[in-house]
Amino acid sequence: MHAEIVVLPGDGIGPEVTAAAVDVLTAVARNFGHCFNFQHHLIGGAAIDACGAPLPEETLHACQHADAVLLGAVGGPKWSDPNARVRPEQGLLALRQALGLYANLRPVAPHPAALGAAPIKPHLLAGVDLLVVRELTGGIYFGDKQRSPDHASDLCSYSVVEVERIVRRACQLARARRGKLTSVDKANVLETSRLWREVATRVAREEFPDVQIEHQLVDAMAMHLLARPREYDVIVTENMFGDILTDEASMLAGSLGLLPSASLGDGRRGLYEPIHGSAPDIAGRGMANPYASILSAALLLRHSLELVDEADCIERAVSEALHAGAFTADLASTTAPLSTRAATRAVLAHLCEERQPIVMRD
Ligand code: IPM
Ligand code: MN
Repeated sequence: MHAEIVVLPGDGIGPEVTAAAVDVLTAVARNFGHCFNFQHHLIGGAAIDACGAPLPEETLHACQHADAVLLGAVGGPKWSDPNARVRPEQGLLALRQALGLYANLRPVAPHPAALGAAPIKPHLLAGVDLLVVRELTGGIYFGDKQRSPDHASDLCSYSVVEVERIVRRACQLARARRGKLTSVDKANVLETSRLWREVATRVAREEFPDVQIEHQLVDAMAMHLLARPREYDVIVTENMFGDILTDEASMLAGSLGLLPSASLGDGRRGLYEPIHGSAPDIAGRGMANPYASILSAALLLRHSLELVDEADCIERAVSEALHAGAFTADLASTTAPLSTRAATRAVLAHLCEERQPIVMRD
């Protein structure tokens, strides 16, 4: 198959980790007889520096015409002046919105070899396999913002349609897994959450009678996620709660550097990025964990290109690399940590080992 993939390295460790993912995708293309064309464009702080805007017209245009977008990370201290008119993060938010990517899938399945890096007791982590479905284009991140010298406000708003479509997507995903959905809100305080709960209950009852739905308040959920993570299957929640809960959930996996994400809309085109940020403290030192970006590339193959075997192949290779102790600094405790490049080579080595009969497809 031929696919156009836009690569947006962005800021900080973004360029290092997306380069790793591109290497892995290139190897997969060779092994399976595909042709992936990579087109690099600017976003975030790098784009502000080059042309004054965090999402240049040219970048957006390329993304709108690609089969999929692979993104590194945006932001950094250089662009964090609180009085700045433009910020790197605006580029990412605008891109998600312009592409209509309202569903952000964040799978969390701790690897046995990385449990030692997690700050949670290992017996709580065995068998954890959950998927957070974060609403991505609504809520407080996108509401009207006001600022005066002695006051500030951010509006949180959700429409019925916005809640319906994300809950529907979460129910479909739950149906294909263990059939359990946990909807997270703050319905004891927020009006948007009361709407969310009402709509979620109705969609699940009317359209997905086979999916078992429960509701949790976000504060309690933050606790349950650490105390009994094994009990959860699919968790669906609004934009900001999902952002916060998934950084927390990354500690179940051992490192923020391990979690990939897929941002999807109604069509096949998607945006794939690690859940981590630009990590300016380690940027340019060749020590970032490339696995979240590589695993995001696997999600890209599965969701945008429907290349399921190829996606499985990448996930298996990362799993085997971890199993063999290929740890970057965020995961390593006693052994000498691997560089970004060395960890990528470990994945590539396992990809090649896997080389099954070469399947040619068109
Ligand atoms: C994420 C990030 C972004 C978000 C930032 C960079 C805008 O934290 O993808 O989780 O909050 O969505
Ligand atoms: Mn985040």
